[in-house]
Amino acid sequence: MTSPKNPLPDPAYHAIQGHSPISGPLVGVNICVIGGGFVGLVTAAGFAQFGHKVVCLENDSARLAELQAGRVPFFERDLEELIRNNMHCNRLSFSKDLEEAVDGQEAIFITVGTPPSSSGRADLGALHEVIEVLSRSVQTGQIIVLKSTVPIGTASRVKEILASNGYGDRTVPVVNNPEFLREGTAVYDFFHPQRIVIGGDSPDAIEYVKHIYRLGMTHPVPIVVTNNATAEMIKYASNVFLATKIGFVNELAGLCDQVGVNVLEVAHAMGLDPRIGPDFLNPGPGWGGSCLPKDISEFIGQGQSHGVQLHIARAVVEANHRQFESVVDKVRKLVGELDGKQIGVLGLSFKAGTSDMRGSPTIPIISMLLEAGATIKAFDPAASREAAQLLPMIEITPQASDVAPDSDCIVILTEWPEFQLLDWWSMAERMRHRNLVDCRNLLSPEVAHHYGFKYLSTGQV
Ligand SMILES: NC(=O)c1ccc[n+]([C@@H]2O[C@H](COP(=O)([O-])OP(=O)(O)OC[C@H]3O[C@@H](n4cnc5c(N)ncnc54)[C@H](O)[C@@H]3O)[C@@H](O)[C@H]2O)c1
Repeated sequence: MTSPKNPLPDPAYHAIQGHSPISGPLVGVNICVIGGGFVGLVTAAGFAQFGHKVVCLENDSARLAELQAGRVPFFERDLEELIRNNMHCNRLSFSKDLEEAVDGQEAIFITVGTPPSSSGRADLGALHEVIEVLSRSVQTGQIIVLKSTVPIGTASRVKEILASNGYGDRTVPVVNNPEFLREGTAVYDFFHPQRIVIGGDSPDAIEYVKHIYRLGMTHPVPIVVTNNATAEMIKYASNVFLATKIGFVNELAGLCDQVGVNVLEVAHAMGLDPRIGPDFLNPGPGWGGSCLPKDISEFIGQGQSHGVQLHIARAVVEANHRQFESVVDKVRKLVGELDGKQIGVLGLSFKAGTSDMRGSPTIPIISMLLEAGATIKAFDPAASREAAQLLPMIEITPQASDVAPDSDCIVILTEWPEFQLLDWWSMAERMRHRNLVDCRNLLSPEVAHHYGFKYLSTGQV
């Protein structure tokens, strides 16, 4: 019925056919989503596509204006089309006025950012601002759903704040519904979740949140119902485990480099074991993004504040820094001293399919190259606007091939598939020296040698 190419279920079709995995009346409800970022926009547009009537709140005026014009201020496949279609059907609108927007809603989903503070702990400032307003404007019977990733105990504190304003869990229940979407495939993931986690103390509120999802789900999805704190922990534990898995395969690749074993074959065979699984076994320049770094940092902080030493999580962070350094070491191995060398970089976003550069490994790696005296020309198919702000000291080129002329080395940092299709003959011919560091294993040693490159991959032989 749906596929990554056509990820959108038709709400009318499913309502008529009754394809929902859970029985009960299929009626759209009024939903307010607070925060028009990656998670908020996908959630708002996804629920609207299910048939709910959704208003999405965004307090950044420039972003709001873009959204009201049907434009998404970042790159995420299928999202703009989904938003426009649902705006057109009057199921989705955008607003800035929180007090007005929550009036008459049945469920209020909070999706504001919880970025890292200078201490490494989650900054809950945006969430507290929202709760402050809600504690004045929320109405009895409305459900507050925390979709942002929040430290264990946050829902309890939100309940306390609401209680001090006269709203107990029976009048305004607070539910956690952590989000597991992956940037780059976020729209597909919304309609094809592997699980939905709903944490709370109010059975009615939990049933209600189930109902919101049930309207559009085209296949049975495991729903994990638990308490608030467990739902909060599930999100952190999942992300820390994913970072650990990537960290492991990155270290494995380093060893494979030295002992002449192909890490891709090893990872493939490992992944065939269902206890291990094939995902997140691709070595690279180090993990990053808007979630893993901040979530592992908060997780370690939670351990510390409870007197629990989280040795594995700490080692995973340390190994990741070492992974960034190992990319610079590889460039140095090929070009010698970096001072005065020109390095071409392919890929700036933290992964392919997104323009997001938050927590991207490309930032520390490029910074280290610059500190060592190299100059950088870089290209990314989606993130040039973000890169111009975050890395003003490098030249961003309009085409991938523009990083080649006079370069001493090209470094592939992000796994955009189009980099495989570049005219590597002409790239090689225009370089000062034919050196290639392939952090994503997009080329093979055979192909790279065919073009005359001195080639260092990530664990391929
Ligand atoms: N990005 C992901 O891949 C992802 C995946 C799973 C979970 N999460 C979690 O979801 C949460 C949101 O992440 P994100 O990447 O969407 O963040 P984001 O920074 O992209 O979006 C947050 C949005 O909320 C807006 N905002 C802040 N305060 C507001 C207010 N008072 N009223 C209205 N709007 C307000 C901001 O302007 C911004 O547009 C975080 O806790 C994150 O950890 C993110």
